[in-house]
Parts: sequence; C-alpha cells; structure tokens
Amino acid sequence: MNKHHFSAPLNFNRWIEENAHLLKPPVGNQQIWKDADTMVTVVGGPNQRTDFHDDPVEEFFYQFKGNAYLNIWDRGRYERIDLREGDMYLMAPHVLHSPQRPEPGSLCLVVEHVRPAGLFDAFQWSCAHCGSVVKRYEMQLRSIVNDLQPVYEQFYATSEEERRCTGCGEIHPGRDWKTWHQTLEAVKPS
Ligand SMILES: [Fe+2]
Repeated sequence: MNKHHFSAPLNFNRWIEENAHLLKPPVGNQQIWKDADTMVTVVGGPNQRTDFHDDPVEEFFYQFKGNAYLNIWDRGRYERIDLREGDMYLMAPHVLHSPQRPEPGSLCLVVEHVRPAGLFDAFQWSCAHCGSVVKRYEMQLRSIVNDLQPVYEQFYATSEEERRCTGCGEIHPGRDWKTWHQTLEAVKPS
C-alpha cells in the first residue's frame, strides 16, 4: 500500500527552500508526498478565509514559522485558538475550524489522514453576526490541494438572497472575508 516505505528520507529545510514560491499566494500550500495515505502539507501565509472545515479525522498542526490562529465555530458560538510560532496542536475530528494566516511568510506543517470511503468532510459558512449556519457542503474529500477550490467557488456563486441568514437576516458577504471578519470582531463580547 505504502509505496514510500523504502523511499529516501526527505530533507525538510531543503524541501521548504525548493517549494517556497508555492507556499505563498496564490497557491499557498503544498502536499509533500502527493499520493500517500498520510497527507503531510505545508501551508503558508498570508491567507484569510471565512469557511469552517468539518474534518472527520484528526488534524495535527505545527506552526513552525510566524503566527496564525484558528477560528472555531462551536454550535453557533465562535472561539479562537492561537497558533504561535513553535506551537503544536492536535485537533479532534469534527471541530469546525477556519485557519487564519495573516502573516506573510508564516509556515505551518499540517498532517492528516486520507479519508476512508463514506467518511465525509464538510465546509460550512456561518453568520458572523449570530452564528447561524448559512451554507454547508458535504463531500468525499480526495485531494486536500485540489478539492477545496470548487466548493469555495460554489459558495461564492450563490446569490445574496441565498446567503441571507435565516437566524438574523444578515447577508453573508461571500468571498469578501474582510467584511465577515469585521462583523465577527464587532459582535464579539469584550
Ligand atoms: Fe445571522
């Protein structure tokens, strides 16, 4: 199964140097062993988003350069987990998380396992104002690098009416992540 079993070790620092041009916008991430069952990915900043990922398997984070944080959506309430440089974090399955990487040049190692057939990921967009779910798309995730963008495009293609929160009437701003984050900051209890 694992065709990498007898392959040569890889020098991580050299890999980072060789892939540095891909670890920033517009690509922003690269998977090290493309067809392995353990998906080892390096994710770079800057990147900010409004989707929350519902992952059916654990995710391991090692924020080895710069700082980042995870927005967490927990049953309609928002939390924040800071990933400061040097932090490792093991996240349980189904913790809805939205990684925020505001720092250019920041780098995070992310490790997760390929999903068994029938175990679905979901991507969810929720109301920054009241926390209600606006849209949720479930999928059999096969590629962490290729399968995300089509879901984003599907959400961004929705009309304002389709993005109107059924809880409070606020319209989710779609791809305009800055407006969404501003609303979240404005309503956050001090
Ligand atoms: Fe709402």
